[in-house]
Amino acid sequence: MGSGPQSSVGSTAWDGPAIYVEDVHKSFGDVRALRGVDLAVERGTVLGVLGPNGAGKTTAVKILTTLLRPDRGRALVEGRDVARSPAAVREIIGLAGQSTAIQEELTGRENLDIMGRLYHLDRASRRRRAGELLERFDLVGAADRPTKGYSGGMQRRLDLALSLVSHPQVVFLDEPTTGLDPRSRLAVWDVIREMVASGTTLLLTTQYLEEADALANEIVVVDRGTVIASGTSQELKNRIGGDVLQFSVVQRDRRAEALEAVSGLSSAEPLYDEETARISLRVGADGSKALVETVRRLDALGIHPEDLGIRRPSLDDVFLSLTGHGAEQDGDAPKRRGRGRRARIRRER
Ligand SMILES: Nc1ncnc2c1ncn2[C@@H]1O[C@H](COP(=O)(O)OP(=O)(O)OP(=O)(O)O)[C@@H](O)[C@H]1O
Ligand SMILES: [Mg+2]
Repeated sequence: MGSGPQSSVGSTAWDGPAIYVEDVHKSFGDVRALRGVDLAVERGTVLGVLGPNGAGKTTAVKILTTLLRPDRGRALVEGRDVARSPAAVREIIGLAGQSTAIQEELTGRENLDIMGRLYHLDRASRRRRAGELLERFDLVGAADRPTKGYSGGMQRRLDLALSLVSHPQVVFLDEPTTGLDPRSRLAVWDVIREMVASGTTLLLTTQYLEEADALANEIVVVDRGTVIASGTSQELKNRIGGDVLQFSVVQRDRRAEALEAVSGLSSAEPLYDEETARISLRVGADGSKALVETVRRLDALGIHPEDLGIRRPSLDDVFLSLTGHGAEQDGDAPKRRGRGRRARIRRER
């Protein structure tokens, strides 16, 4: 159980970052899952660890939650070394892993009760805590039903509730919204925001750029076991420089021509996003010139663009520009050019 923010191993209180990771390596046989990861999370803030499948996100979370030992390097949670003092780390953390901790034959309330027992809470405290969390996660109505009948969103909310039973100071959420529909995702975002508002330090992993954008104070982008960029969402967006021109072409059979027409307008290649049916192009500082030229070229072809405009870069653009590969394909497939699917850190389950 949390014994207050002052607690630390030894006599002096820890005044460094709540989570501190230095040069952590981890291999599984030949697979180098982490190749020297550094990061730091200030107390009371949210770090978003953003990366595609296989980037090493879960491995990092498992090391920080003492489920795996690092091969090399150092990882501290509130000053407690995960390898040397795992029990001290476990006292102050909560984890909602990528696979559920729910026992599906039990009710939501029973699941919370069992978690309370693991933390040696007495019966009255367990009952009180379960009640509080069921309320907070909007599960009161379903509290006494077996969880196997819960929807995906309800199960995820219960998972988050389970991670909070012990009032942890530092919470790890491994892909808290993967597989949820948009409405359930927003509901989970709300409870995550509440957790942060109540002072919890949070590390969350995600493949969703919008999620990191919406929830994280700082973001580290992980690819193939290393941190390839870090900063606030805004800083990352600024890094790629310049604006993005985008438009859509309603006539499906003219999209290839439209792409062709705008290629060469800047040094970047135009991209076609199948999901949104939008064409986009990084245009650097001189967006208005590119805009005028685009209209001229499309007009000459008799193509009428819709929603033509200039926007600031998104994290999508950032990821593509940093890695040069679409995120959904583990990075090994060659980048499909021109009409290639837009890089989007997302996996559908
Ligand atoms: N126990 C294990 N044994 C062997 N290889 C492993 C093991 N755990 C992870 N790996 C490998 O380590 C790499 C990183 O895996 P990890 O699960 O950390 O990625 P991830 O970023 O969490 O991916 P995802 O988004 O799919 O959850 C992958 O290549 C994975 O196959
Ligand atoms: Mg994972």
